[in-house]
Amino acid sequence: MRAKIVAGNWKMNKNAQETESLLAELFAKLPDTEAEVIVAPTFVNLATAVSCLENSIIQVAAQNMHFAENGAFTGEISTDMLLNINVDVVILGHSERRSHFGETDDLLSKKVQTALEKNMRIIFCFGEELEDRKSDNHFGVVESQLKNALFSLDASAFKNIVLAYEPVWAIGTGETASPEQAQEMHAFIRETIASKYDSSTANNVSILYGGSVKPANAKEIFSKPDVDGGLIGGASLNSDDFIAIIRGI
Ligand code: PGA
Repeated sequence: MRAKIVAGNWKMNKNAQETESLLAELFAKLPDTEAEVIVAPTFVNLATAVSCLENSIIQVAAQNMHFAENGAFTGEISTDMLLNINVDVVILGHSERRSHFGETDDLLSKKVQTALEKNMRIIFCFGEELEDRKSDNHFGVVESQLKNALFSLDASAFKNIVLAYEPVWAIGTGETASPEQAQEMHAFIRETIASKYDSSTANNVSILYGGSVKPANAKEIFSKPDVDGGLIGGASLNSDDFIAIIRGI
């Protein structure tokens, strides 16, 4: 049985006090759920988040990391630094990292390699741009993102990888992929993994949907057979909305 997961990507939002109060609200309101719940505050607030959530099932993830162990990489954060403060989940490949910070499949493949060597769990994001979908190239783009960054790995690596399909045109735009569009792509992703590896690897990997998930649409999207949860941006910044989305699992 693959894991159901709801993860909140806070992006560059919430200062230290705001982080503490949002986490206290989540801690207090979290319902019984079969979903794993993960939050990804900014780097500077990760240690605070870990200590606020010490007695909670909510896990803490980083939004990025560098592939090197240490060294002259001004402004960067290593896996060892994250592990040292008990953060062992990392989001990689988010479309904002790809588009604003030039992260390529090659770079992501190095980051993935390092994270796996360090036994971290990865939420690996990918998804097509609007033009790709308009030109009916969305399956091709998604397939090549997966191949380039992940398909040199052994099947066993997928135990530590969660996939997050996030069509770029749906991120922060209010425009969501329809539940049918999400299901169609998630099924394609699973088939692509099954044909590269095997059906057990494909059936065991959790595939999250991300892009304007809200309390109003979460339940329907999550009800699709190949959608195992969501990566939530804007709506994860409000405890009531995030909790309502978790209830949609
Ligand atoms: P959104 O962001 O929910 O605000 O569209 C999703 C994401 O970027 O992970």
